Amino acid sequence: MDKIEIEGGRRLSGRVTISGAKNAALPILTSALLTDGSNTYTNVPGLQDIHSIRALLENHGASVSVDGHTVRIDASGLSNSEAPYELVRKMRASILVLGPLLARLGRARVSLPGGCAIGARPINLHLNGLERLGATIALRHGYVEAEAKKLVGADIYFDTVTVTGTENLMMAAVLASGRSVLRNAAREPEIVALAQVLNQMGADVQGAGTPVITINGVDTLKPTQTEIIPDRIETGTFLVAAALTGGDVIIDRCEPDHVGATLSKLSQAGVDISVGQNTIHVRGNASVTSVDFRTEPYPGFPTDMQAQFMVLMAVADGTSMINETIFENRFIHVSELKRMGADIRINGNTAMVHGVGRLSGAPVMASDLRASACLVLAGLVAEGTTVINRVYHLDRGYEALEEKFTALGAAIRRVR
Ligand code: EPU
Repeated sequence: MDKIEIEGGRRLSGRVTISGAKNAALPILTSALLTDGSNTYTNVPGLQDIHSIRALLENHGASVSVDGHTVRIDASGLSNSEAPYELVRKMRASILVLGPLLARLGRARVSLPGGCAIGARPINLHLNGLERLGATIALRHGYVEAEAKKLVGADIYFDTVTVTGTENLMMAAVLASGRSVLRNAAREPEIVALAQVLNQMGADVQGAGTPVITINGVDTLKPTQTEIIPDRIETGTFLVAAALTGGDVIIDRCEPDHVGATLSKLSQAGVDISVGQNTIHVRGNASVTSVDFRTEPYPGFPTDMQAQFMVLMAVADGTSMINETIFENRFIHVSELKRMGADIRINGNTAMVHGVGRLSGAPVMASDLRASACLVLAGLVAEGTTVINRVYHLDRGYEALEEKFTALGAAIRRVR
């Protein structure tokens, strides 16, 4: 199994280009199931999760070709309505096929994704929403079995803001008859990006980016071409890396508007930031001040940046209170950071982080994607060598991470 080895203490400088967003690409590639004909997607990141969604779409009968960062998908041959456990277990986002399969084929049998390291992650809101659209749902032998001759528009209220839940329902409702209203919908940029693609395909989706999305169903959709938006979590990860190492980094091809909460917390912590149209220039200071934050649905501080920002707080001046409100078990990185000398105490969903100035390199274990990124950042700022085990998590969500950090001057390498 691959490991990543980092010699800490190097100041990062230079420019880094942000890749396409994993969490925008996954639903958008899945939306190809909604139409016949060839769809083209550019700026698709080269990630393990993209290979996983490709395998899943091919399993359903779509033909998929990948040429660098361009992916073409033609679902004219869509036939198989079953998403088997072997494919779904590799990636929870596989549940995104449920809405499109039901809308196109009138039936779907999709393996339940199960829990994961960061929490139970139920899909009850996806299923309740589909039932509201007229689907009959049964859970049998670990699978969701859904059927609907024709989905019918409905008023759907989400008890909790759910990103993939909103996406699944949007994709189901675009081909339903009549009007659907999604209330307490997620407002993430990935939702807006999916709505734009659906509208380019001929759908009528209004209000994406607000808590109320209205969808007027249409009979058919046509193929489209689209560019995947920049990854806001990768952007945030590099922002924190630059700040942590007292670096001077220009982040290119990003969308500053999508990282507003992270930028604002960095400024509050004393990091010098200037924002251009698609670039952000970060200059880290010798000392960073502790700030408190809580994770929230967009536009709040993203849970996917909590672990990385915690590293900055671990070496900051003062004490930071970090409140995780989205997932019940998203502090798994804390025990590894403590092994590197961090002073962190957890009480329920709050972490109290006393800045210690410097971390020390150690062998550590990655537990999930963002926790892995957090350990890489910790390794960059630690004295001595950090070896991160189980880095396959990183390959799911960060394209060319070692290459990008190496180009900025980090001493990082993959040991195969
Ligand atoms: N929830 C329910 N019932 C549901 C759905 C969600 O109770 O039916 C709860 C979840 O358990 C959680 C909260 O609602 O407590 C929010 O979960 P959400 O459904 O929004 O998460 P998700 O759609 O499964 C996406 C991202 C995650 C990101 C979260 C939150 C994708 C493919 N995944 O997951 O990304 O953390 O939104 O922003 O878009 C990552 O990239 O590392 C990652 C985990």
